[in-house]
Amino acid sequence: MSASASPNERRKFLGILLGAIGAIIAGAFAWPLVRFLSPNNKGGAAQQVKIPKEKVAVGGAHFFSYQGRPAVLLEPEPGQYVALSAVCTHLGCIVKWVSDSQEFLCPCHGGRFSPAGQVLGGPPPKPLTTYAVKLDGETILVG
Ligand code: FES
Repeated sequence: MSASASPNERRKFLGILLGAIGAIIAGAFAWPLVRFLSPNNKGGAAQQVKIPKEKVAVGGAHFFSYQGRPAVLLEPEPGQYVALSAVCTHLGCIVKWVSDSQEFLCPCHGGRFSPAGQVLGGPPPKPLTTYAVKLDGETILVG
C-alpha cells in the first residue's frame, strides 16, 4: 500500500488487518478449549509408561504421570505391583498414600481407598481406576 492509497483502499487494508488480528486472538482462546475437549489418542505403545523396579518399595508408593494424569504404582507384596489412577472418584482431588495405614486418603473430603483401589470409606462412589501392569526384566510397564 502506497502513501497515495485511496480511503477505500486504506479501509480495506485495515479491515483485513483487523480480521487477521481477530483470528489470531480467537485461535489463542480456542486452542486450550480444543485440547481440553479432544480425546487423548496417542496410540498403543506410546501410552505405556516404563518405571524401573527400584522406584517403588514394598509397602511404598511411587507417583507418576499416566496420560497426563496423576497415577501411582504400589508394591503391596514383594514382586506384586498395582498401578492406579491417583484421581479420587468423588470430585477429582489427588489421593495421598499413607504408608502407616497402607491406604490412600483423599485430602479433600476424607475418602479412603485400599491398596487395590477399593473404597474403604468416605464419599467416593467407586474404586480408583486400575491400569494394566507387566514386568519386563527390571522395568515395570504400566498401561
Ligand atoms: S474429592 Fe476425594 S473424597 Fe471428595
